[in-house]
Amino acid sequence: MSKYNIPHHVAIIMDGNGRWAKNRNLPRNNGHEEGLKTLSKITPKVFDAGVKSLSVYAFSSENWYRPKNEIKHLMDLFEKAIESNFQYMVDNRIKFNLLGNIKKFPSSLQKKIKNLEEITKKNRDYNFYLAANYGSKEELIFAAETLRDSTSKITEKSFKNAFYAPHLPDVDLLIRTGGETRLSNFLLWQSAYAEIYFTKVLWPDFKPIHLKKALEFFSGKIRKFGKIN
Ligand code: FPP
Repeated sequence: MSKYNIPHHVAIIMDGNGRWAKNRNLPRNNGHEEGLKTLSKITPKVFDAGVKSLSVYAFSSENWYRPKNEIKHLMDLFEKAIESNFQYMVDNRIKFNLLGNIKKFPSSLQKKIKNLEEITKKNRDYNFYLAANYGSKEELIFAAETLRDSTSKITEKSFKNAFYAPHLPDVDLLIRTGGETRLSNFLLWQSAYAEIYFTKVLWPDFKPIHLKKALEFFSGKIRKFGKIN
């Protein structure tokens, strides 16, 4: 894939787990389990392609309105995901970053998240951002609240510095699976100039070939950032 112009930061809205399960008459939770398997397979492919930062939308601030049993299952899956990918992150010098407010998460999950962040904090080669209990509007309000009493002039830079993860780079390529064509409150500020790739493929069915197509889509774009050539 190295012949392509590679995005620095790829963000993924992993949609379609529920429909994948429904199509097979399985409970929605099975769809999330398959979704986790897909994430574990796709993550190394993203970094192998030369991408330096990967953000995935695992749980939005609106997902609390889902049935209790689905929320519990997702929390359990997050713990499982951290345990099973712990060594991979350490071995591959990937810095793990949590994006969002995890105070409402079970304390065992919070501990695992903080531990992985701590252990990988010096890693510089790659960044993995797990957006969990994340909402872009909340992040913008959080930044505004943080700066509310500041007497200095608010600039783009100082505003961004008050985000959950100030070092999160702008998104170059945003991929949304599952056929919907919306951003669903994910990285709204950071995606201001993102190239957006929508695919009907449901997340559990997303394979390296689909990633390749998304990267090809990106490499064909001329990015002007509002300017002319
Ligand atoms: C959206 O599909 C998916 C989610 C809300 C959860 C994403 C979780 C995973 C991919 C698995 C675990 C991931 C990590 C990082 C541990 P949906 O349920 O809205 O699907 P639907 O639109 O078909 O109903």
